[in-house]
Amino acid sequence: MENIEKLPLFVLYVFLFQLGFSSCLPHLCPKDLALALLEFKKMFVINPFASNFEECEGLSPKTLSWNTSVDCCSWDGVHCEETTSEVIELDLRCSQLQGKFLSNSSIFQLSALKRLDLSMNDFSDSNISPNFGGFSSLTYLDLSYSTFTGQIPSEISNLSKLRSLRIYGYSTGLTLGPHKLGQLLKNLTELRELELSNMGISSTIPPNFSSYLTTLRLPGTQLYGILPERVFHLPNLRLLDLSRNSQLSVSFPITKWNSSASLKDLSLNGVNFTTVPEPMSNFFGPVRLFNENWTQLESLNLQSNFLTGPIPSDVSGFQSLQRLSMSSNSLNGTIPSWISSLPSLKYLDLRNNSFSGQLEEFKSKELFWIDLNKNYLQSPIPNSLLNQENLMFLSLSSNNFSDNLNFSMFSNLSGLGTLNLSYNSFSWADKDQVKSNLLNSLYDLDLRSNLLQGSLPIPPSSIENFYISHNKLSGHIPSTICKLEFLRVLDLASNSLKGAIPPCFGNMSAIEVLDLRYNNLSGTIQTNFSVGNPLRSFNLRGNQLEGKIPRSLINSKRLEVLDLGNNELNDTFPMWLGTLPNLMVLILRSNKLHGPIRTSKTKRLFPQLRIIDISSNGFYGDLPTHLLENFQAMKKVDEDMKIPMYIGDYYYKDSITISSKGMSMELVRIFSMYTVIDLSSNRFEGYIPSVIGNLTSLVLLNLSHNSLEGHIPTSLGSVSALQSLDLSFNKLGGEIPVQLASLTFLGFLSVSHNHLVGCIPSGNQFATFQSGSFEGNDELRGFPISKDCGGRGHGHVPQSTTPSALDDQEEDSGFEISWEAVLMGYGCGLIIGISIIYIMSSIRKPIQLFRMIAEWEHKVITMRKKKKVARQVRYSTLTLH
Ligand SMILES: *[C@@H]1O[C@H](CO)[C@@H](O)[C@H](O)[C@H]1NC(C)=O
Ligand SMILES: *[C@@H]1O[C@H](CO)[C@@H](O)[C@H](O)[C@H]1NC(C)=O
Ligand SMILES: *[C@@H]1O[C@H](CO)[C@@H](O)[C@H](O)[C@H]1NC(C)=O
Ligand SMILES: *[C@@H]1O[C@H](CO)[C@@H](O)[C@H](O)[C@H]1NC(C)=O
Ligand SMILES: *[C@@H]1O[C@H](CO)[C@@H](O)[C@H](O)[C@H]1NC(C)=O
Ligand SMILES: *[C@@H]1O[C@H](CO)[C@@H](O)[C@H](O)[C@H]1NC(C)=O
Ligand SMILES: *[C@@H]1O[C@H](CO)[C@@H](O)[C@H](O)[C@H]1NC(C)=O
Ligand SMILES: *[C@@H]1O[C@H](CO)[C@@H](O)[C@H](O)[C@H]1NC(C)=O
Ligand SMILES: *[C@@H]1O[C@H](CO)[C@@H](O)[C@H](O)[C@H]1NC(C)=O
Ligand SMILES: *[C@@H]1O[C@H](CO)[C@@H](O)[C@H](O)[C@H]1NC(C)=O
Repeated sequence: MENIEKLPLFVLYVFLFQLGFSSCLPHLCPKDLALALLEFKKMFVINPFASNFEECEGLSPKTLSWNTSVDCCSWDGVHCEETTSEVIELDLRCSQLQGKFLSNSSIFQLSALKRLDLSMNDFSDSNISPNFGGFSSLTYLDLSYSTFTGQIPSEISNLSKLRSLRIYGYSTGLTLGPHKLGQLLKNLTELRELELSNMGISSTIPPNFSSYLTTLRLPGTQLYGILPERVFHLPNLRLLDLSRNSQLSVSFPITKWNSSASLKDLSLNGVNFTTVPEPMSNFFGPVRLFNENWTQLESLNLQSNFLTGPIPSDVSGFQSLQRLSMSSNSLNGTIPSWISSLPSLKYLDLRNNSFSGQLEEFKSKELFWIDLNKNYLQSPIPNSLLNQENLMFLSLSSNNFSDNLNFSMFSNLSGLGTLNLSYNSFSWADKDQVKSNLLNSLYDLDLRSNLLQGSLPIPPSSIENFYISHNKLSGHIPSTICKLEFLRVLDLASNSLKGAIPPCFGNMSAIEVLDLRYNNLSGTIQTNFSVGNPLRSFNLRGNQLEGKIPRSLINSKRLEVLDLGNNELNDTFPMWLGTLPNLMVLILRSNKLHGPIRTSKTKRLFPQLRIIDISSNGFYGDLPTHLLENFQAMKKVDEDMKIPMYIGDYYYKDSITISSKGMSMELVRIFSMYTVIDLSSNRFEGYIPSVIGNLTSLVLLNLSHNSLEGHIPTSLGSVSALQSLDLSFNKLGGEIPVQLASLTFLGFLSVSHNHLVGCIPSGNQFATFQSGSFEGNDELRGFPISKDCGGRGHGHVPQSTTPSALDDQEEDSGFEISWEAVLMGYGCGLIIGISIIYIMSSIRKPIQLFRMIAEWEHKVITMRKKKKVARQVRYSTLTLH
């Protein structure tokens, strides 16, 4: 009975099923292809970070919609041929796919594909399979930014119908293989667009090209040899980008240009720019650089090419020019008037040259990016610059401008996002505060290091980053500044601001950096930091603040840097700050803090602390042994950290002043592995706890000017990173432990004015210390004080192979890296973020990487901020097509 009842239902089901199928027959994609696609989908997980690109923002992963209840021809990203229902197009750009792309992938069953876009996913260092060569109908292939690695298979040259080939890499992970470029170009006779970037091609530019070629982009691909002039004869070429190929010789002038030519966009930055036959030095005089008939050129990039002298005047014929970059050369003289006369100029980047004199009025009404940073230009700012409603970025930083500024000058710049006037001699004419409706798109305002006087101007309400440090501002900080709801960075340091700190600072919803150091602020700190506030760095150093450390800082869970040094704060040690999970730097030096420092052994306090300076206060009692035990971050040298990280981000790098080697020293950036304990000039007594030897990554230890007694612990010899050790002016006795001689980085040592006895250890760094390091001890003997320990080998540690100069070398290279990385900022996400993660595993020479990143970052950052405008920037080294 039961079986009979079920039968009709089953029949009905089959019937409906078939009906369902036949009703959509016209668009039905072959079942095997649907299965192949589903199998392909299964190979990957969906991870938003796999498509962490600006262009992918807001796009949902396409494969999510793929399921069997829908015909595969209507799946997201899948397109079928009308008649045959073959899958001919697969567009999985920005699909958040993550996982290995295997050679046996089912995708290779889609043999009729004409268009395949897999860009901006994360295929986790997979190789590009030779099977890609089997897509014989393919006309479009894009594998950019998808973390493919290894050699591009030569089978790609089989794709003889290909019109576009795009593979942008991140770094050295991808290679084409020597001499493969020629083969590729020989076979791909239909090619219109060839875009391969940031990969090892290591070849000369091949002799033969498809004459259809419209776009040739090969930046950062280790091309060498001479750029054949033939390239400039390609009749359809519109874009040529060979930048960052430092071994590719491009000889100028380029004169034999076919006047029917269509080239609009030329990027030759960072190539080996040579001139024939004149030597570089006197080249740019009468000799032409280009053929003056290139009137169609719209974009010219000659950054970083060691150009000297004035701008070659023949460029003046390029009346269509919209974008011109000649930054980071050694060009000098005035900026020629033909540049300001270019009628369509939008983007002008001449930063980092030696231009001098005054700017002329700009003729173009379409300017949106002007970067003249780091030249010797003089006032006035031309009026035409101040009447550009499309202007989004204006930097006149680091020049000799001395105009009298007021905000209304800029009131016509209704689209301005970044205004950088720092490091000039601007003064301030405006007695009134700015009207908030002016400049309401401004988010970056940098007025650092000028001669601005008077009260603090309040920037427009859209502001996010406001820097006005190193000026002559006076008066109170008006509490209206707290109404700036987007303000993230407020840098008012080194002015003469007085009065109290506005309590409302604690309620600002976006504030991450409050830098008020070196002013005349006084009174108690009444700021009440609300729960969940985003404060990351709070610096009040060098004021006259009194009273207690505000307890509400306990609500600033993201706090990384707290510097309250050089004030008159009267409080006990703020052990309660130890619960802040991210606190890395705590500076309380030169205040009236007092009392013993006690902590129980069990609490895990200050887990991230790397720098603690509580010197010159009134602390007393035993050294806080248990506190020292807590400093987890000082206990291990992080071997994995190959790329130096600095505390802060792109918009604000923290800086501090510490005393090192007996001097006050400013760290303009804080390397996050730099660790310091400074407890000097207090009234600590008792022994130096041996647990200090467990803080193996400690770089600087200063316990001087206390009343410490007992011996110097031998465990100090295990603090292998130690560079500066000051134990002077205590009551320490016994001998200097020989273990200290094994500290090969130790560049400064002072144990003077104690009660030490015995022989000074010899060897290694001890050969370099002067007698001042040891003076004022009753019975110390040996080099450099006396000779009577000499030759007896007492305390002699076998000479290591490390030369004594290593310390300096180390410091130097550290410093160098810090300069290279100055722009890096690890908070900047996006491409940079991604490439850093990626590159960390693959790069051999981080310094090269930093150069590259620094080059990009300038644009990336701003691009991220102002997407729409930035899309037009598509220029220079950053090309995400
Ligand atoms: C299949 O995809 C379609 C279209 O995206 C959707 O409406 C439907 O709910 C999906 N069905 C299943 C079983 O996931
Ligand atoms: C593809 O190859 C991998 C190993 O290379 C293997 O684990 C997997 O089972 C293969 N898949 C198919 C469908 O053959
Ligand atoms: C490349 O093309 C040749 C000839 O057309 C063919 O024999 C070869 O199998 C192709 N290679 C691939 C990987 O498809
Ligand atoms: C070049 O293309 C031809 C067919 O057009 C093919 O036979 C040959 O194998 C290709 N060469 C390479 C290296 O792929
Ligand atoms: C370029 O290719 C054409 C045919 O496509 C050929 O006639 C010519 O000799 C080639 N030139 C060079 C320099 O290889
Ligand atoms: C730059 O080009 C010149 C002349 O062609 C050559 O002598 C020199 O070696 C090249 N430099 C590099 C780094 O390739
Ligand atoms: C520029 O074009 C003009 C007219 O077409 C021509 O006479 C002149 O020779 C060209 N100059 C060069 C350097 O090719
Ligand atoms: C430009 O620099 C060159 C040296 O590179 C120098 O000889 C010349 O005097 C400079 N010109 C000006 C205007 O400064
Ligand atoms: C700190 O404040 C207390 C009262 O709160 C006062 O007695 C003491 O003198 C102050 N210490 C200093 C150094 O000013
Ligand atoms: C210090 O390190 C030693 C060896 O690593 C360990 O045995 C000891 O427990 C540590 N002491 C403290 C207080 O962490």
